[in-house]
Amino acid sequence: MNERFCSRFYARHYDELKRYAKYFGGVESRCECRTADTAVRELRRVAEQLGGGGDGRFILDTDDTLGAGAYRIESGEEAVTITGGDGNGVLYGTYRFLILAAGGFDTDDSGKPAYSLRMLDHWDNADGSIERGYSGNSLFFADNDIKYDKQRVADLAALYASVGINAVCINNVNVHATETLFITEKYLGKAAALADIFADCGIKLFLSVNFAAPAEIGGLDTADPLDERVRKWWSDTAAAIYDKVPTFGGFLVKADSEGRPGPFTYGRDHADGANMLAEAVAPFGGKVVWRCFVYNCRVDWRDRSTDRAKAAYVNFKPLDGRFDDNVILQVKNGPMDFQIREPVSPLLGALGSTRTAVEFQITQEYTGQQIDLCWLVPMWKECLDFNTYALTGGSVVKERITGAAGVSNVGDGEFLTGDPLAAANLYGFGRLIFDPSQSAERIAEEWVRAALTTEPGAVRTLTGMLLRSREIYESYTSPLGVGWMVVPHYHYGVDVDGYEYSRWGTYHYADRDGIGVDRTAATGTGYVKQYAPENGRFYESINTCPDELLLFFHHVSYKHVLHSGKTVIQHIYDSHFDGADEAEKLLEEWRTLRGRVPDDVYEEALRRFELQLANAQRWRDVVNTYFYRKSGIPDEHGRKIY
Ligand code: GCU
Repeated sequence: MNERFCSRFYARHYDELKRYAKYFGGVESRCECRTADTAVRELRRVAEQLGGGGDGRFILDTDDTLGAGAYRIESGEEAVTITGGDGNGVLYGTYRFLILAAGGFDTDDSGKPAYSLRMLDHWDNADGSIERGYSGNSLFFADNDIKYDKQRVADLAALYASVGINAVCINNVNVHATETLFITEKYLGKAAALADIFADCGIKLFLSVNFAAPAEIGGLDTADPLDERVRKWWSDTAAAIYDKVPTFGGFLVKADSEGRPGPFTYGRDHADGANMLAEAVAPFGGKVVWRCFVYNCRVDWRDRSTDRAKAAYVNFKPLDGRFDDNVILQVKNGPMDFQIREPVSPLLGALGSTRTAVEFQITQEYTGQQIDLCWLVPMWKECLDFNTYALTGGSVVKERITGAAGVSNVGDGEFLTGDPLAAANLYGFGRLIFDPSQSAERIAEEWVRAALTTEPGAVRTLTGMLLRSREIYESYTSPLGVGWMVVPHYHYGVDVDGYEYSRWGTYHYADRDGIGVDRTAATGTGYVKQYAPENGRFYESINTCPDELLLFFHHVSYKHVLHSGKTVIQHIYDSHFDGADEAEKLLEEWRTLRGRVPDDVYEEALRRFELQLANAQRWRDVVNTYFYRKSGIPDEHGRKIY
């Protein structure tokens, strides 16, 4: 059966789409561009799937006053008119129509992307593995080569376009030997063919590059960004890339981070490095997305003065204003590394004269690895809605950024996202960064209805599960913003002291009296000084610091009383008992959906909810026992602690 409409992602709701069958009699396109052609093909395929249409039709048109990527959908008696600000807008509007129709929503809608960069970063390796991937192998690579199934990539591109993604970086930010060669003749032809598939959906292909490439593969004895030979090498390389791949988006760079080479080796800074690459791609309209995840990962745990949380700001704030216009700094949402709860990175508010994009992690490295349900949109929304107070003329994160990048959670497994419910994170990321003013509730409901079911009771159950899932995961893992406590390297499952005596700068400092990291200006590492005073004051004082971040900012006694009225130790016990109970409830709720969602989805997710429960119970028992033994303070309710 022809099941396209983004393959299995939304394809289950032809029943709802049938209500619109009359319009599927024909498609009249008044646009001449490849993305509109993709829209035409998509509508024709759906018509076929529906077994033909009535007398009505779709009219696709453009109106450039709407703006790039914008769309408007209007239905009349005879026709649905989809008008885009450009070809991409036509395609977005077409998918929007299909998603809304499949979900049983009103299809008349309009939208305009909030940002020009809406990117997905794949951490795929040439050998086909995916760093922090939980959904199978790469859809782009195998056997140290660019190798892919054309149809699957076309489906992926369609899916990405269906939520407005317009940029995709296909290879890991950690660029190994083979991927270093992707920018050479040997691989460019294949990269070009891949870029072409994405271009049909208005998506630009980016490559992660190795900063040391001129020395490693270019025959030079240096990669110094101020060396003329190095600059020329990059300019020639960029010209060769654009010659083969005219739609190329540009470079993504992880430099001077976790062992990757970078400008520091040559006594240069990140502006020198980024601008060199920016200059190379500028003649072709290319961009350089430069990551700010730069910190010292060789800290001695006995050194109490070094605070990893401070690193991004320390490295990049002084460079504000020095970056070329086509450089975008990519800043992780929090100052550490995609934990379940972190404050918003102070760097996001600090760069008044530099383009920035926020980086979210869709793949659930620290948030349940697509085994535990953890819908991340509420967390991302908190970041986008955060007022940094740092800049004049508006300081809310979502108003200051140029875009957002998400670390992709897809792979070649049976369900594109491993856990079929993790697809809600992919959908949510795309929708949220297209229009950050949408509510999490609406996004959840849209996905549930378009992807799983429109039965009202089931929709309520499922959206409720998604909306609670982040706090449930948080409640049985590390407490009150302190983070980590995961099994080192692997990052799933509990190991309270796993990182405590390590070089990664990720500590909780628990002893018999208390726990937490003192990051205050008065007595701690001074991290809070990186915030504008409005926020800094708030975090600095134990009286105003929000409970959920208390241990990120303060080292406190187990007997410290939270705003909630509980002591820290009692909070640890209660939240872990509750969290495991809630994980059990998720499983029970899921069981009520048997026969009400597609069977294969039901079975696959069921298996994962069972694993989640076991995981939550283990976290509960290990964390509670650990803190009971450390503190000697019993649970007020006398529950079982080992
Ligand atoms: C985390 C993750 C790494 C990744 C890194 C990054 O530390 O564990 O696998 O390479 O983030 O974002 O660069």
